[in-house]
Amino acid sequence: MTTIDDYIKSIPKAELHVHIEGTLEPELLFKLAARNKIRLKYNSVEELRKAYNFHNLQSFLNIYYEGAGVLQTEADFYDLTLAHLEKARSQNVLHTEIFFDPQTHTSRGIAFETVITGIKKALDDGKQKLDISSGLILCFLRHLSEEEAFKTLHEALPYKHLLLGVGLDSSEKGHPPSKFRNVFAEALKEGLLTVAHAGEEGPAEYVREAVDLLKISRIDHGNNSLNDNALLQELAEKRIPLTVCPLSNLKLKVVTDMRNHPLKKMLDAGLFVTINSDDPAYFGGYVNENFQTVAENLNLTKKDIYLLAKNSFEASFVSQTEKHAFLEKLEGFKP
Ligand code: HPA
Ligand code: ZN
Repeated sequence: MTTIDDYIKSIPKAELHVHIEGTLEPELLFKLAARNKIRLKYNSVEELRKAYNFHNLQSFLNIYYEGAGVLQTEADFYDLTLAHLEKARSQNVLHTEIFFDPQTHTSRGIAFETVITGIKKALDDGKQKLDISSGLILCFLRHLSEEEAFKTLHEALPYKHLLLGVGLDSSEKGHPPSKFRNVFAEALKEGLLTVAHAGEEGPAEYVREAVDLLKISRIDHGNNSLNDNALLQELAEKRIPLTVCPLSNLKLKVVTDMRNHPLKKMLDAGLFVTINSDDPAYFGGYVNENFQTVAENLNLTKKDIYLLAKNSFEASFVSQTEKHAFLEKLEGFKP
């Protein structure tokens, strides 16, 4: 009998909620700072890691945006992305749908082209050399205006063929999905899929807006959906996937104790949930560690783990043919 830990490590899975800027490990951050001759506020990797102590989403975002400042050249975005793909593949992630935040970089004078070209080259090499498939989702920063989001969408359109869709991230409270209804409508018209962070710190109402106004294909986080029974029922009936991020929730105090994490309630309510890492370099674990912590604290079974892995492929944006191929690989792991 394999242990549940070994089962988690070996089972094939997809990741659907990871911010590439959130995969920047302190070691690489220091290396890129040196390469780009950037002076950091911190003297060592250890000192930087000590600053990773968050009390809410905003306190994390401040450090996360600061860290992204070391990313300057196409090679930086390439190295960041390739490092992530290697790590993901080592955890038996066969497919990853990666968020990137272009406005974090264009606002510092880095060209959109630099960002997307560096990432794309690494994704191509990841496919060829590591056999990991991937997709890209452009996130608009919700603390900025819809006009800024439109500007970014227009910059992105020449690269539309490299994108699966658009998303919405950054400071949630006070920045409801409705603020971005027009830019999401244009993205949809351009054939892009839509997703949005909602119900992480914001209310269930934001999840409803994301479904009704932004026509999302997945909700990122979605924890606060549990406060609205009618919404819960609708999410379950429509099989709208939720990309849940347990370690992120703990680090950002969305949950106070992993034993109270709502994942189990979500599963019991029949929600279409997946497990993801969000910003693994900042939250203390990649996908497998996220699976492990919920397995341990919520007493999940191998059957639960299998369902979560299956959901990850089913909720992905790959073609039906690719989906079948992934699900076939998964079959052999049925408990
Ligand atoms: N929430 C909102 N914005 C983000 C997050 C998150 O968890 N991670 C990176 N940007
Ligand atoms: Zn996120």
